[in-house]
Amino acid sequence: MKIAFVSGKGGVGKSSLCFLTALSLRDAGKEVSVDDRDPQKSVSSWIDLERDGISDGEGEFTLIDTRPSIDHKSVIQAISEADRIVMPCTPSPGDITAARATVEVVLGLMKEGAKAALVLNMVKGGTNFAEDAPDLLKAMGVPVMNTQIPDRQSIQRAVLLGWRALDSKTQGIIFKLALEILS
Ligand SMILES: Nc1ncnc2c1ncn2[C@@H]1O[C@H](COP(=O)(O)OP(=O)(O)OP(=O)(O)O)[C@@H](O)[C@H]1O
Ligand SMILES: [Mg+2]
Repeated sequence: MKIAFVSGKGGVGKSSLCFLTALSLRDAGKEVSVDDRDPQKSVSSWIDLERDGISDGEGEFTLIDTRPSIDHKSVIQAISEADRIVMPCTPSPGDITAARATVEVVLGLMKEGAKAALVLNMVKGGTNFAEDAPDLLKAMGVPVMNTQIPDRQSIQRAVLLGWRALDSKTQGIIFKLALEILS
């Protein structure tokens, strides 16, 4: 199964969620590989082969990271070959409006049988907008995941330290995300 992380916007968490989803699937005993198609090579540089047990290239689950674009040919290619497309988005009114463009392109390009959904990332506790965002998005016809990823320093540390940098609650949220992506 190929899972692509896509957004027209930079810095929304494509690489972080790609890496963390890979770690959680690996932790669940799956054979995972990462196909890093972003020239920044963030995810490739975060993977420590011995520590993380994640390889480059194709595996039972191949997680594809992409550059911040929806019209670059490498991103179009990733969208068209993926079985699952994850579109991270921060819960701010501007980002949510911008995400509609990503969603429209993705829904138009993805293959038959594929599934795509937006995931709210960097959600700060106590922000009313994050609570309203799923309903707002659904009303706009945008598929949105039930799992929301909180804003956590441990998520930033995980790129250096791997899975063990996450407290068990955050690990649980990432597992939930992985399960929802696969469902
Ligand atoms: N849930 C989170 N909590 C806290 N920080 C986060 C979270 N998700 C991502 N970040 C931080 O936000 C920044 C951008 O994340 P990331 O590099 O994953 O985004 P990206 O969409 O891949 O960016 P680019 O478009 O440049 O490739 C990083 O500093 C990352 O550590
Ligand atoms: Mg990135």
